[in-house]
Amino acid sequence: MTEKLVDPFQRAISYLRVSVTDRCDFRCVYCMSEAMQFLPKKELLTLEELDRMCSTFIGMGVRKLRITGGEPLVRREIMTFFHAMSRHLEDGSLDELTLTTNGSQLARFADDLFAAGVRRVNVSLDTLDEAKFARVTRWGRLPQVMKGIDAAQNAGLRVKINAVALKGFNEDELFTLVDWCAGRDMDLTFIEVMPMGDMGEEDRIGQYWALSDLRRDLATRYTLIDSAKRTGGPARYVTLAETGQNIGFITPLTHNFCESCNRVRLTCTGQLFMCLGQEDMVDLREPLRASDNNEILQNAIRAAISLKPKGHDFDYSRQEVAGQVSRHMSHTGG
Ligand code: GTP
Ligand code: 5AD
Ligand code: SF4
Repeated sequence: MTEKLVDPFQRAISYLRVSVTDRCDFRCVYCMSEAMQFLPKKELLTLEELDRMCSTFIGMGVRKLRITGGEPLVRREIMTFFHAMSRHLEDGSLDELTLTTNGSQLARFADDLFAAGVRRVNVSLDTLDEAKFARVTRWGRLPQVMKGIDAAQNAGLRVKINAVALKGFNEDELFTLVDWCAGRDMDLTFIEVMPMGDMGEEDRIGQYWALSDLRRDLATRYTLIDSAKRTGGPARYVTLAETGQNIGFITPLTHNFCESCNRVRLTCTGQLFMCLGQEDMVDLREPLRASDNNEILQNAIRAAISLKPKGHDFDYSRQEVAGQVSRHMSHTGG
C-alpha cells in the first residue's frame, strides 16, 4: 500500500465515485437536457482500464467505490466490471462496492449485483405518481422501476431512495414518499437541487425546495431525532421517533458539508473531478495509457488530489443562481 491520499485541507480521500457511462435511458429534467450529445464509445475507458484505475485508487486508500453514470446499468458488460471489483471486497481492501441507479434495469441485474458483493443500492425516485414520473424523467415508466426495486429487495440488497426536492413538483408527496419507504423498510434521502448544466428551460430558483423547509414540514407529523448514522456520503440523517425510519438530508445549499468531503469523481473518459461543484479536472487517461507502470498513474492521482478545492460555490440566497457549473450532473454521476 502506498501513502494515502490527503488533500490540501487535510481531508483523506476514501470515496471514489466512478461514472461508467454518460448515457442514460431517462432524461431527468434537472440532470440532462432533452437532446444530450453522448460521447462516441471510443472515448470511453474500457472495462479493463476502469479496473486498473479503480484498483490503483484502492491501493491508495479508497475504501468506498460507488458506480454511477448516466445510468451505470446501461453500460454493456458492466457486470464483468462489478465482478472484477469484488476481489477487493474479498481481500479486505474495499469496504463497500455500490451503485446509484435509476432502477430501470435492476430487475435484470439485482441477483448478479448481490453475487458481486453489492449489498446496498441507491435508487433515484422523485415521485410515486406515474404521470409525474414520466414528466420528470421525460419518458421513464414508473412500473419498470418498481419492478427493479422489488427485484433488488428480493435479491437481498438494501435499497435507499434518493428524491430530489422540487418545489411545486413533489412537495405534496412528502408524506407519501416517507410512508411508502417506511412500509418497504427503505431509507429515504432528500437532495437539494444543484445548479449543474445549462438547462435554459429550467428555472433553478423556481424549482428549489430548501431542505430546512422540508424538515420543518416533516416535523409537523413526526418527532425528528438527529441520528449518528453516517454512510461515508454527504447525507445527514434523522430518525423518525414514531417509525424508527431514517431520513437523510443532502444540503449543499442550506448546510454546506464540504469541510468533511472525502470524495472525488472519475468520468467514463478518465477525467478526475476533484469537486462536484467546480470545473477543475485532471486527465488520468493519458497517464493510464502512457505506461503499464502504475507509478506514473499514482503520481498523476496524487498531483490531482493536491488540487482539490475547498468546496463548491453554489448559492441561491440572493434570489439568483451563483456558483453554477456548466457540465451536466450526468457527466460526473452526481
Ligand atoms: P450513500 O453511500 O448512501 O451515502 O450515498 P451518497 O449520498 O454518497 O451517493 P448518492 O449517489 O446517493 O448521492 C446522492 C446525492 O448526493 C447526489 O445528488 C449527489 O450529487 C449528491 N452528492 C454526493 N456527493 C456530493 C458531494 O460531494 N457534494 C455535493 N454537493 N453533492 C454530493
Ligand atoms: N441536483 C441534485 N441532485 C441531482 N441529481 C441529478 N441531478 C441533480 C441536481 N441537479 C441526483 C439524481 C441521483 C443522484 C446521483 O443525483 O437524482 O439521485
Ligand atoms: Fe466535496 Fe466539492 Fe461536494 Fe463540497 S461540493 S462536498 S468539496 S465534492
